[in-house]
This record gives sequence, structure tokens and C-alpha cells, in this order.
Amino acid sequence: MIIVIDFGSQFNQLIARRVRENGVYCQVEPSGISVEKIKAMNPVGIILSGGPSSIYEENSPTIDTSIFELGIPVLGICYGMHFMVHALGGTIRRADKREYGFAQLTVKEERPLFTDMGNSFQCWMSHGDSAEELPPDFVVTASTENTKIAAIANHTKRFYGLQLHPEVEHSVNGSLMIHHFLFDVCACEKNWNMKSFSDGAIAQIKSAVGNKKVIMGLSGGVDSSVAATLIHKAIGKNLHCIFVDNGLLRENEKENLEKSLTAKLDLNIKFVDAREKFLTALKGVTDPETKRKIIGKHFIDVFDTEAKKIDGAEFLGQGTLYPDIIESKSAFGGPTSIIKSHHNVGGLPEKMNLKLIEPLQLLFKDEVRKLGLTLGINEELIWRQPFPGPGLAIRIMGEITEERLNILRKADTVLLEEIRAAGYYKKLWQSFAVLLPIKSVGVMGDKRTFANCIAIRAVTSNDAMTADWAKLPHDLLGKISNRIINEVDKINRVVFDITSKPPGTIEWE
Ligand code: XMP
Repeated sequence: MIIVIDFGSQFNQLIARRVRENGVYCQVEPSGISVEKIKAMNPVGIILSGGPSSIYEENSPTIDTSIFELGIPVLGICYGMHFMVHALGGTIRRADKREYGFAQLTVKEERPLFTDMGNSFQCWMSHGDSAEELPPDFVVTASTENTKIAAIANHTKRFYGLQLHPEVEHSVNGSLMIHHFLFDVCACEKNWNMKSFSDGAIAQIKSAVGNKKVIMGLSGGVDSSVAATLIHKAIGKNLHCIFVDNGLLRENEKENLEKSLTAKLDLNIKFVDAREKFLTALKGVTDPETKRKIIGKHFIDVFDTEAKKIDGAEFLGQGTLYPDIIESKSAFGGPTSIIKSHHNVGGLPEKMNLKLIEPLQLLFKDEVRKLGLTLGINEELIWRQPFPGPGLAIRIMGEITEERLNILRKADTVLLEEIRAAGYYKKLWQSFAVLLPIKSVGVMGDKRTFANCIAIRAVTSNDAMTADWAKLPHDLLGKISNRIINEVDKINRVVFDITSKPPGTIEWE
């Protein structure tokens, strides 16, 4: 295994991910970890992550410097390299200007990290400090125009430092540098995969939960389904799932969940029909934020009421992914951090007083999909496009009524059928229908109509932070429009949304 020491970089999970992509087990540990604990974990290599601090700053993160006496190879990245240089007797200089962005790296010593990469290529930098004097027995192995000491090595001790960030996609050959560190320096074995991840996670959940109970909200989406499957494999009937029908779901949502998840797993699942409660609370509400607040509050109320009926529940399971918590700087990884004291991802109130189980918190969406397939969840569920918590409420502009919900459900079903049939479903981040608050004039069968308008929203994206409107073929758009107008009563016009994000958002409210 490889240990990544977390010095606070927002990229530290990306480092872990690059290691995992190479089939090597990896854990991110806080910098306060003791050397005894590191020894007990028996890593074959240590990576010191970057971080926002400067080495001479008060309270900048440190790790016990006896890690350099363990005989284990160390790779320091950015702040991690500065820490190593400083700890081993070199000096760091505070630069006047931050170097941020692309730089051209010139290689001076190819082996081991830059093997087979050529002499010069682009890398990505983000630093204020630089190494000025090297510790004894270190050599410079690469530089850039602004940074003379951009990579260093002590070959005897197998200590390496990179000022650049090999973990980010913009660093050409970055993954390969990590590959060389893992296999040429640390002699790692390629024996980690989703199966070993799930075996490990199941064992951790078992030992943490014992014979206590876990409750969990199931939405029918990928993340909560994969998390529930994993937890169920660990504790079986002690997992109690709650599915809340808030009346804002798409057509056949409950049936689809039953078909694709519960049919295979003997899940303890309670379906709660709270449609009336939500729709009554939303009556007459048109403001988007007010809608969201009402839905959030009622969800928590319903969930809390149901949770209290389950005697002795001590844990709350959640399908939180790494990007969901990227902002909340906590200690990731490690055998115990799968369970954390309550933090508010998901917005559940403190009063529930439950400990969190978040077995997917180290993973990215594509890794969760791979894990889901390994666990035997069917492809249809695994490739589902995201669906927001507030559901169709934020896709109906203006007031939400039963009638308008039914119109939107039908239009959305037609749209998704056509998107699937044309082979676009998996290629799009999301595709859905929006019901607009306006009516327009039309003519159908020689009769004047004055009816509703549907907007088609289809976007491509990697992470929903930015998105582009999908360039769907005109004949597909034509077919969707025809079918919606012919098959959905009270619709006489369909428009296509050609706004990217930013400046638009993906959802309309
Ligand atoms: P926006 O509209 O902000 O959406 O561009 C970005 C992504 O987030 C989803 N979304 C939500 N998901 N609860 C959720 O679980 C919400 O309240 C929520 N609002 C937006 C949206 O579908 C898109 O994928």
C-alpha cells in the first residue's frame, strides 16, 4: 500500500485516485499521523501532498520527520517537496509572485520518474515558494524557466520531490510520473481493484456497526443505491432503508427502484407515501428558493419521523461522494474515517444525533459506477442520469399542481424514451423536460389552441460545475417535439434550451 499524507491540498484525493488507477491500494492520512501507525500500516511508499501553506508559516502542517528514517521511498509534491527539503537540511525561498498555471519542464535526469517522456514537456504549477538550497545528497532532476529546482532526487535514499502537480490532468506525463514512482521506485504490486475496495469497505462497515442498526434514505439514484448495496452486504437486515415519495418523482420511479435494486437484494425498505404532505405545503408557491426550502424541511421531517420508528438506529448511511465533500476539510481515508461524527452534507439536522456511514466518500462518480457494477447492480441503474432532490418541483416554473406534474411526467417520459432510443442517454450528463409558466397559441386539427410549452434541456458535463448544451441532431429534436405535442395533452409547443453553464444553471430553478 501507499500512504498519501494530507498537507491540505485540494488535490490530495486526486493523488490517491491516480494511485488507485494504477491498481495499487492507497490511503490518505492526516499529517498528524504517528510514525508508529505508519510503520504498522507497512506502506511501500509515502507521498507527501501539496498544500496551501508556506513552510515557514506558523502552524503550517508537519509530519514527524522520522518518516525519513524508515527506509521507505518518499515522493513530495509541491508543499510536500518543500517540507522534505526543509526537514532534511535544505532551504525554501518565498517567491514574490505565485507561479500558477502551465510551465515547460526541462528534464535533466530521466530516471526514474521521467523515464521515456522526452526532454521537455508541459506541466502544471501552483506555488509561491521554491526550493533554494538542496539538502545533502540531492540533485536537481528537472527545471522550468522560472523554477530552477522543479524536481529533485536523492537516489540512494529513494526520496523524490516534484514542484509540479503530477496528479492534475493538465500535467502532461503526470500519471506516468506516479506510475514510475509506484512501480520503478516502490516496486508496488498491481493488486487493487473495485473488488478489493468493496471487500475492504464491507469489513470496515461490519466492524464499525457491529450488531447495531443503520438507517438510510434511498432515492433510486446511483450513489444511494451503491452505498445501500455495500452496507447491506456488510450488515444485512440491520440496514433499514426509507424511500420517500414526495409526489415530485418521475413516472414509475418507485417501480424502477424495485425492479433494479430490491428485486435482487433482500433489502429492508419502507416506502413512505408523503405526496399529500408535500403538495399541500407547496400549494400556491412559485418562488424557486421557497420551493426548495419547503421540500428540504418536509423531507427531514418525514425522514426523522420514520427513523424514530426504527428502534435502536445509531447510524445514518449516506451515498456521499468525494466531490460532495471536497470543500469540507476533514481527514479522509483510514480504517476509521469511514465513520465520522455528524457533518451536514445532505442537510440532515443535528437533532437526529446519528453517526454517519459514508462508504463512498473516497470515490469519484465514475469509480462509484465501476463499484456498482462489481457489486452486481444492473447497468440501467448504474448509468442513470442525476435527478435533483427537489425533483420535478424545480422543473415546473410557477405553481406545482397535480395536473402540471402529470403533464411534465408524460413529456419527460417521451423525451427520455427518444433520447435512449437514439443512443444519447449515456452520452449526456442530463436530459429532461421543463414545464414553462406561459401558454401560447397554436393550431391543431383546424382548431385554435392556447396551451402550455415544454422546454427540452440536454447537457454534457463531467461534474455539473460547468456544462454545455448538447448538440442533439435536428431530426431527434423534431421527433421529440412531435411526440410530445401529439401524446401529451395540453402541450402545443416545444422549445430547445441552448444555454451553457455558466451563465445558465442546469436546472431552471
Ligand atoms: P445546477 O442547476 O445548479 O445543477 O446547475 C447542478 C447539478 O446538481 C443537480 N441539482 C441538485 N441535486 N439536490 C440535488 O440532489 C438539489 O437540490 C439539486 N439542485 C440541482 C442538478 O440536477 C445538476 O445535476
